[in-house]
Amino acid sequence: MCGIVGAVTDRQVQNILLEGLRRLEYRGYDSAGMAVIAADGRLGRQRAVGKVAALEEKLQASSLSGSLGIAHTRWATHGRPSEKNAHPHQSGDKLAVVHNGIIENYEPLKAELERDGYVFHSETDTEVVAHLMAREAARRNDLLSAFRHVVTLLEGAYALAVTHADFPDQIVGTRRGSPLVVGVGIEEAFLASDPLALLQVTDRFIYLQEGDLVRLGRHGSVEVFDAEQQPVKRDSTIFEHGDNAVSRGEYRHFMLKEIFDQSQVITHTLEGRLGERHVFPRILGADADELLSRVHNIQIIACGTSYHAGMVARYWLEKLAGIPTQVEVASEYRYREVVVPQGTLFVTLSQSGETADTLAALRHTAQKGGYLASLAICNVPGSSLVRESDLTLMTQAGPEIGVASTKAFTTQLVSLLLLTLALRQVQHGDDEVQARLVSALRGLPQLISRGLALDSAIEGLSAAFADKHHALFVGRGTMFPIALEGALKLKEISYIHAEAYPAGELKHGPLALVDADMPVVAVAPNDELIGKLKSNLQEVRARGGELFVFADENIALEEGEGIHLLRLPAVDEFIAPILYTLPLQLLAYHVAVLKGTDVDQPRNLAKSVTVE
Ligand code: G6P
Repeated sequence: MCGIVGAVTDRQVQNILLEGLRRLEYRGYDSAGMAVIAADGRLGRQRAVGKVAALEEKLQASSLSGSLGIAHTRWATHGRPSEKNAHPHQSGDKLAVVHNGIIENYEPLKAELERDGYVFHSETDTEVVAHLMAREAARRNDLLSAFRHVVTLLEGAYALAVTHADFPDQIVGTRRGSPLVVGVGIEEAFLASDPLALLQVTDRFIYLQEGDLVRLGRHGSVEVFDAEQQPVKRDSTIFEHGDNAVSRGEYRHFMLKEIFDQSQVITHTLEGRLGERHVFPRILGADADELLSRVHNIQIIACGTSYHAGMVARYWLEKLAGIPTQVEVASEYRYREVVVPQGTLFVTLSQSGETADTLAALRHTAQKGGYLASLAICNVPGSSLVRESDLTLMTQAGPEIGVASTKAFTTQLVSLLLLTLALRQVQHGDDEVQARLVSALRGLPQLISRGLALDSAIEGLSAAFADKHHALFVGRGTMFPIALEGALKLKEISYIHAEAYPAGELKHGPLALVDADMPVVAVAPNDELIGKLKSNLQEVRARGGELFVFADENIALEEGEGIHLLRLPAVDEFIAPILYTLPLQLLAYHVAVLKGTDVDQPRNLAKSVTVE
């Protein structure tokens, strides 16, 4: 999704902004641009369609000199990807603005500005902000005061940064519904939609709150004003993950690195959270025991891959903790009239903590009331979801750059299993099941390494998919959401149409699709449903379908014509969803590499979806 970078320094900013944009590439975008105020007070701008490299080429031909500037990567919402729609947008030759999000009332604002004689050069909603700002700045002769007024006119979700040649020592910015952080440097100040954009210049950040306005000035000046426009002090925090976490190292793609990171990051997720025979309930805070004892229902809300993690958790929470659990995608939930059973814990799951629909669902819930508490299971400290929830459980996956989520998913699963066991412990006391699962969790990082050792065998299978147009994924029980996640991975990065079904549903429709051109992938751990799954696989074979089965090493299944078998280490049935995710991630990865797609930044997709 769109990205913002801004810098006020006493050195040349072009390359700082460019590096910031490169670091935001992972979020997904279709064009990029930059505006810099030069020493002679002139505003210069460059924009380009496509990759940041295209902008860089233009800047090489004609660089932007100056020590204050703003830059942007755009992911089209209003108006197709084109140079004239790329940000920064200008009003006249003095004012430039970059914007993430959507200005919902831009049409009436545009009509009013046109009546006032302003000429629009783009199809974007953002350009209204440029003209409104130019008009108000001229009227008030004060950039901050103009900005304060303009934001009262805007409806929608946005993060903005504005610069003006008549005020060459300041950048003003705000966030409402889209993230924006201030990077605190030494005698320098920065703005970005994501701290990762600024790790080359600082590791100290101020996470702005909803409705905050900020004015960056020379010599590191940062003034923050709250939604009531009062000056307010916001603490800065050090970004926990080193800059290493955002480098690809020896790997060809971030996605592959992140798949291979999983053993290590799961170790981090487990750190300090496992007792001898049970999970510490205080993983949710010092007085979580009492609260957890009152949880009688759970509502899980998420989008995309995170939603699939929630679907797995439902099986765990009901079977291991005996707590009725609902799981729903945020974009549906937020518009539904929901009946909330007493004692419901509201759980949001999100890698980024900034997904617009998930955040909206949380806010809708907070406003409506009726829940016991809200819990965010999230990967980004300081994100909106974390700040606005009563309780948090951090997944500790470190920055995830590949758009297709991998390590964030498996660490979400681990966190959800920890939550399940903490609930079981508080509500039912210690028992052998917990002791068994705690020990299985301890062995998980090593098991993950064994699972990843299948990489080259999976690469071998991938050739069978590269020329196909469709694929089917099947599983039963917790393996159904894992099949959904496998199908999502394949379609996201290889653009092969893939669907997942609970294996028992095959005969109710999808069997009609099965022929030699439709590979069927099955995930088959040694659980109580394995016998039934085997019968489902027979149904596929009987219709000429080619099967790719990822199965427990102890299951009696024969490889043969039309059946490719890959054995996984024996694993506890509750841990199996985590282990069986790995081959599906690797399969999607290798198929995408064979097809030559842009693995880390697949077309049309964004890492963090901050618009509705
Ligand atoms: C986007 C990403 C997915 C992600 C989903 C939810 O669609 O491309 O990988 O699963 O958003 O994101 P979240 O940050 O809320 O987990």
